[in-house]
Amino acid sequence: MDVAVASDLTEEIRRGVDDAAPRITEVRLTEEIRRGVDDAAPRITEVRLTAFKSFRDEVLPLGPLTILTGLNGAGKSNALDAIEVLAGLASGASLSFVLRETRGGAEGSAPHGTSRIELGCTVELDGAGYRWDLTIDVAGEPRVARESLTAATGISAVRAALVGVFHLDPIPARMRQFVPAHQVRLRRDADNLSATMASLSEQHPGEFNGLVALADRLQGGRVPGIDFERTTLDDVMFTLRERSAVGADTGSTPAREVSDGLLRVLAVGCAVGATRDHLDLPAPPHPGVVSARPLLVVEEVENGLHPSQAGYVLDLVRDAATQQTKSILLTTHSSALLDDATGALNDDILVCYRAPATGYSHIARLPELEGYLDAMISGPIGRNVASGRLTGPISEEIDRHGLDDLFGIDR
Ligand SMILES: Nc1ncnc2c1ncn2[C@@H]1O[C@H](COP(=O)(O)OP(=O)(O)O)[C@@H](O)[C@H]1O
Ligand SMILES: [Mg+2]
Repeated sequence: MDVAVASDLTEEIRRGVDDAAPRITEVRLTEEIRRGVDDAAPRITEVRLTAFKSFRDEVLPLGPLTILTGLNGAGKSNALDAIEVLAGLASGASLSFVLRETRGGAEGSAPHGTSRIELGCTVELDGAGYRWDLTIDVAGEPRVARESLTAATGISAVRAALVGVFHLDPIPARMRQFVPAHQVRLRRDADNLSATMASLSEQHPGEFNGLVALADRLQGGRVPGIDFERTTLDDVMFTLRERSAVGADTGSTPAREVSDGLLRVLAVGCAVGATRDHLDLPAPPHPGVVSARPLLVVEEVENGLHPSQAGYVLDLVRDAATQQTKSILLTTHSSALLDDATGALNDDILVCYRAPATGYSHIARLPELEGYLDAMISGPIGRNVASGRLTGPISEEIDRHGLDDLFGIDR
């Protein structure tokens, strides 16, 4: 594979220091203390989309759980592409390789009519925020025109946090085969799901039982257990133990016969529950830094699921996000999933939309949208989003405090 180590870029990061001291606001600190966050692991707290594809001067904030929704073409995947670019660079791949692998390639990543990409991120570690920003020129061979980092000490934290990005893109057809049992680190397409689950069943029975419970819930209480079929070559495939509605044993279903929807959800469940050593992530680039809290990214998380079951996925990620062992970023079109996200969780929902005047993509927290109050009164959030309401720009006039009182959101 054509991956060159970007020593020039690393060098740029090292030299591109500006003297703004890393700072953390008081409000943010209180929030961290309230949530009892472990600060020893670096994590990405925002991605700056200054000039990237359809985005101009926008920021994607990342919390323990972030749910990104919005109409088709609003810019959700574009935002995720920006994270991929940053993560790719941090992993040491060359700039031209990273941009070539991005949807649309290098030229397609600069906003139409321009040949410059500007993007960046903030990584927090031990209460300090490190900002890395870069400008990339894509006219001709891509090159970094300018970059900055707010404190040289942030280099390893920024890189560690970025190589902790795990983008799960499960492909059910690939999960239906035997895989070598030693390949326990879940890969991006989850083709080795059986091996990861087998290892979890031995090393992390709690997480594994959570997966069994998930399968059982999705199959209407007909899956009391998950077993593993092994070949003499030590390849492995999971099988669902099944029973009838009246509890009679009805045999077992190998992964090869399991539905697409269930395979996808098991892959998501596995990625959500797995610790770093069960995800296919590179080692932290710097021995001095604790492993980053992984950022799990899943697009259209409800794919293949019946609407009545989409809420199960939300339960799953909500639990994981509360434990703070990883951050989770999801995109969804599921109104059922959004309906299940109520109260304070509405703040975790970001709506991506195109500004009517400019066509640029923007991101707003759901409660900031025009019509939020009326919508909350008129029916479930998901139904409102599905019917095309709550997809518009921010209202300046909404009194946030009034809203928060109304819905009991404690800030
Ligand atoms: N380089 C670019 N400059 C401006 N707009 C772009 C660029 N690349 C893609 N877009 C816009 O972004 C849209 C795709 O956005 P995307 O993030 O894939 O949507 P979704 O929200 O459905 O995931 C395209 O239809 C196009 O309008
Ligand atoms: Mg998309």
